[in-house]
Amino acid sequence: MERETKSILVFGASSPTGQLIVEEALTNNWNVKIYGRRTLPKHAENPAITTVEGTLEDVEKLRQVIRGTTVIVSVLGPSGTKIKNTPFPSFYKRVFELMREEKVKRIIALSTFSVSHPNDRFSLVCRLLVGMLWLFGNSAWKNLVEVGKTFDEHAGGLEWTLFRVGFLKDQGPAKIVQGYVGDGKLGMGVNRVDVARWVVGQASRDKTENVGDKPGISSA
Ligand SMILES: NC(=O)c1ccc[n+]([C@@H]2O[C@H](COP(=O)([O-])OP(=O)(O)OC[C@H]3O[C@@H](n4cnc5c(N)ncnc54)[C@H](OP(=O)(O)O)[C@@H]3O)[C@@H](O)[C@H]2O)c1
Repeated sequence: MERETKSILVFGASSPTGQLIVEEALTNNWNVKIYGRRTLPKHAENPAITTVEGTLEDVEKLRQVIRGTTVIVSVLGPSGTKIKNTPFPSFYKRVFELMREEKVKRIIALSTFSVSHPNDRFSLVCRLLVGMLWLFGNSAWKNLVEVGKTFDEHAGGLEWTLFRVGFLKDQGPAKIVQGYVGDGKLGMGVNRVDVARWVVGQASRDKTENVGDKPGISSA
């Protein structure tokens, strides 16, 4: 398939990170679609972007926007540390079902170090970071852990990657490090612009990488 016919669907495009992903995808000649509960004027006014407004629960709208997509990218998540409910695990389950029905294979989604990986090693800084969220933002922590389980239990057969970050920064671009907690290389902070570069780079690989895995990324 030619690159020009490839399309990327971004969930969470209204977030600071999502906006950078949209920019990076456009720069790399992707056809960009975005779906969310609100559309930023700069996206609505850009003829190179297809925008669809809808909720996380609207199956038919989601089906329409997922249809024909090459790669789905999601940076959806709670904006703060407290959320009333956890809509994201059931949203991802819905998306996985629709992906299978519409024969869309690839999804790359953001998670955090609250979700662990068998290759992680002890890191005091990470333990403190996750502990603070557990203590002061327990509902957000629960949501993150539930999303991790949802990928493990419900994304079978799909080419999924749940990449993990610590905290997001507005610096960079910088060298991107991929690894596991406590490996001596991976840091706790990542620039939003580096998230965008890494995600679009992953989406563009001819041979998909990190399938069924939860790598960590940080900025050096
Ligand atoms: N800030 C950090 O240091 C940090 C650390 C680790 C992980 N994260 C996660 O990284 C991601 C990007 O963060 P960010 O700081 O760039 O932006 P953000 O403000 O946290 O973005 C959250 C995104 O999710 C959407 N969203 C949230 N609840 C929703 C709902 N119920 N229905 C539909 N959409 C919903 C928001 O849409 P609206 O614009 O419509 O609200 C927005 O696009 C988020 O998932 C965040 O939780 C952030």
